[in-house]
Amino acid sequence: MFEKDFLWGASTSAYQVEGAWNVDGKEPSVQDIRQVPENTSDFKVAADHYHHVKEDVALFSELGLKAYRFSISWSRVMPNGVINPKGVDFYHTLIDELLKNNIEPIVTVFHFDLPASLYKQGGWGNRQTIQAFADYCTFLFDTFGDKVHYWQTINEQNMLTLAGKLISGNKKTWKDIFQENHHMLVAQSKVMGIYHNSDHSGKIGPAPNICAVYPSSPSAENQLAADYMSAFRNWLYLDAAVFGRYNAQALEILRALDAVPEITLEDERIMKQNTCDYIAFNYYNTACVTSFDLGEIKEGDQQKGLAIPGFFKSIENPNLPQTEFGWSIDPTGLRVTAHQIYSRYGLPLLITENGLGGRDKLEEDGTIHDNYRIDYLRQHIIELEKTIEDGVPFIGYCPWSAIDLISTHEGIRKRYGFIYVNRSDFDLKDLKRYRKDSFYWYQHLIETNGREK
Ligand code: BG6
Repeated sequence: MFEKDFLWGASTSAYQVEGAWNVDGKEPSVQDIRQVPENTSDFKVAADHYHHVKEDVALFSELGLKAYRFSISWSRVMPNGVINPKGVDFYHTLIDELLKNNIEPIVTVFHFDLPASLYKQGGWGNRQTIQAFADYCTFLFDTFGDKVHYWQTINEQNMLTLAGKLISGNKKTWKDIFQENHHMLVAQSKVMGIYHNSDHSGKIGPAPNICAVYPSSPSAENQLAADYMSAFRNWLYLDAAVFGRYNAQALEILRALDAVPEITLEDERIMKQNTCDYIAFNYYNTACVTSFDLGEIKEGDQQKGLAIPGFFKSIENPNLPQTEFGWSIDPTGLRVTAHQIYSRYGLPLLITENGLGGRDKLEEDGTIHDNYRIDYLRQHIIELEKTIEDGVPFIGYCPWSAIDLISTHEGIRKRYGFIYVNRSDFDLKDLKRYRKDSFYWYQHLIETNGREK
């Protein structure tokens, strides 16, 4: 049973959905200047949500969303560190439209799209980016704080760190990567403190990608490998946000990689004093690992392939089916993952992403029969309901994605939305919106508060 105020929602991120990459004073972000894979679209037009904002919110309202989780583009709001009134107006319009339609705005302040000007000054590797982020967030809290009650700091900081080459074209040494990661952790703590010291009474927290890690067989070595991977991929990020400290097993891996960052006493103080109110997390599937003594470090993508010699190697789980893009599907894993998070941290949870990327087909009559997506979401919602009945408190569920958008590294042919956007990777067509079968299915599910799946 879902509580009557359960937030049935859906998610997007600015650079993947908005387009208008250089319009109305926006500066490019790292996503606009990076080399995207040759066979996929760039992010310049995306779903052109910037120019369809009212039409899109009307569709979200028809879908019945109680919440919409989106990100704000730093480079639109504060290009080159200067407030851009037109960029700010865009988010006022979006948020006002949502509120008019009784849709709770859930805002992520940073989702993979650092302004290019900051990147050129060293990006997250430069300590000054912490203050730039604090200034940006202070402005957001002051400007939108009366209208927004749920804030998230950084989307999938763990994946930006561990799969950075694919997600943002960041190619560096582990030492540099974990120094950047550390600055992000401090920046996150700092802005949680700023929010808590402001007049606003909403909630703020991180939004990592969390997944349970299974040992590939019942042996102590493989269990240890699973624990190490979980520490490195999951708990490093949540221990920092909830307890304000580094996870010990993760630190051991950082030492082995010669990647322990420089941590000042002031950093430690900031992290310790400023922690989160709730945990938002993205869940797509689980991982399966085996012990791994010798070999090369492998980065993989968000969901598979990570390997650190001496600790763990992630492998395919032979017991799980896969999407056509090779991500395994594990609805019960959601229950396992949520239990692990809640028993470690005891904070309310919010799912900010969960979904299936597939090649949808627009039929001649304007329909899209995405029953594979319905099956995926249905199975996850069934497990979510069981988890809630087990006693784990959930604020809401926001699958990825509200509307079709550009995947991080596989173009728009890998679609996730309830709403189809008529374009392909290299042909913008008319960008017309169509309701998929999953749109009507989710609409009915929300109408019945999750009773009829
Ligand atoms: C998450 C990100 O990693 O997964 C999203 O937060 C992303 O930005 C989503 O789009 C799905 O991944 P992908 O690589 O299929 O786009």
